[in-house]
Amino acid sequence: MQTLSQLHTIFQTYLEENKFNFSPKELYEPIDYILSLGGKRLRPLLVLMSYDLFKDDVEAALPAAFSVEIFHNFSLLHDDIMDEAPLRRGQATVHTKYDINTGILSGDVMLIYTYKYLMQLATNSNLAEIINVFNQVAVDVCEGQQFDMNFEKRDNVAIDEYINMISLKTASLVAGAMKMGALIAGASAEDAEHAYEFGRNVGIAFQLQDDILDTFGDPQKFGKKVGGDIVQNKKTYLVLKSLEVADAEVSEKLSQQMVTKTTDEVSKIETVRGIFESLNVRELAEGVKQGYQKTAFEHLNSIQVTDERKQTLKQLATELLEREV
Ligand code: IPE
Ligand code: IPE
Ligand code: MG
Ligand code: MG
Ligand code: MG
Repeated sequence: MQTLSQLHTIFQTYLEENKFNFSPKELYEPIDYILSLGGKRLRPLLVLMSYDLFKDDVEAALPAAFSVEIFHNFSLLHDDIMDEAPLRRGQATVHTKYDINTGILSGDVMLIYTYKYLMQLATNSNLAEIINVFNQVAVDVCEGQQFDMNFEKRDNVAIDEYINMISLKTASLVAGAMKMGALIAGASAEDAEHAYEFGRNVGIAFQLQDDILDTFGDPQKFGKKVGGDIVQNKKTYLVLKSLEVADAEVSEKLSQQMVTKTTDEVSKIETVRGIFESLNVRELAEGVKQGYQKTAFEHLNSIQVTDERKQTLKQLATELLEREV
């Protein structure tokens, strides 16, 4: 059994030993750049922690953990192009520091490297299933991203559609990380499924928190442009719940704001945040988030290992609920 900070150190060391210092540097340097900006390393830690539920030699899961972190960072490179985002982890996004073509191609090669690292599990008897899980995650993320962008142009998105979208674009990878860790360790099918569902529910809560922070976060801590979702007309829970509870006049005002492009970002962000505050939708989002967190813990409780082995996962999942970054 390892503590959270031990696992973090083990992963960080592996990352240092696996730098992308190859040629041509125009292709690989942006990869080292994004990976070196840090981040919470949530998904690789989940692979390691899930493995650690069942077996002690976590080093065996490191290539898969790295693969999942490369995939996550690849998705961020392309997501930041699609979302026109200037900041990531407190620094310039890859396409702003370099250019859009760099963001596309460095992202593409990262996706291939995810499979190169997974192939290091070649002797694992579950490899085919592990790759199946990973493939489904990758498809889910693309579908979720497309729904996310489709919703920017719609003013009648249902809350169920939003939950399905975040389940695909974000929760699927968190779930897949958990399931991959379990499968590498040779867990039973039932335990692997509970691990997956734990991750999926944590992932939905995680994206709800991300959406809350995008509007209400502290710009010094958040590392991304606060208000970016409002500028991009993202149909977050905050928007959809507001449209549901507001009177006709406020609802109409918000709808209009959230389908048009603005030249005055500052006043748009201020107006929309003001509507959210007047309707207390942040509190409502917090409540929904806690519901998913509770379901996540039920799945963790159902996994057939001792409570002691679950402590680090419980600690991490609890901290995620309160996060500001
Ligand atoms: C950002 O993920 C993308 C979302 C799914 C919200 P993280 O918040 O895990 O980003 P890093 O890796 O810690 O920077
Ligand atoms: C994250 O959605 C989904 C993926 C990166 C696939 P967001 O667009 O909300 O992520 P951030 O806020 O840019 O990190
Ligand atoms: Mg996005
Ligand atoms: Mg984004
Ligand atoms: Mg976001």
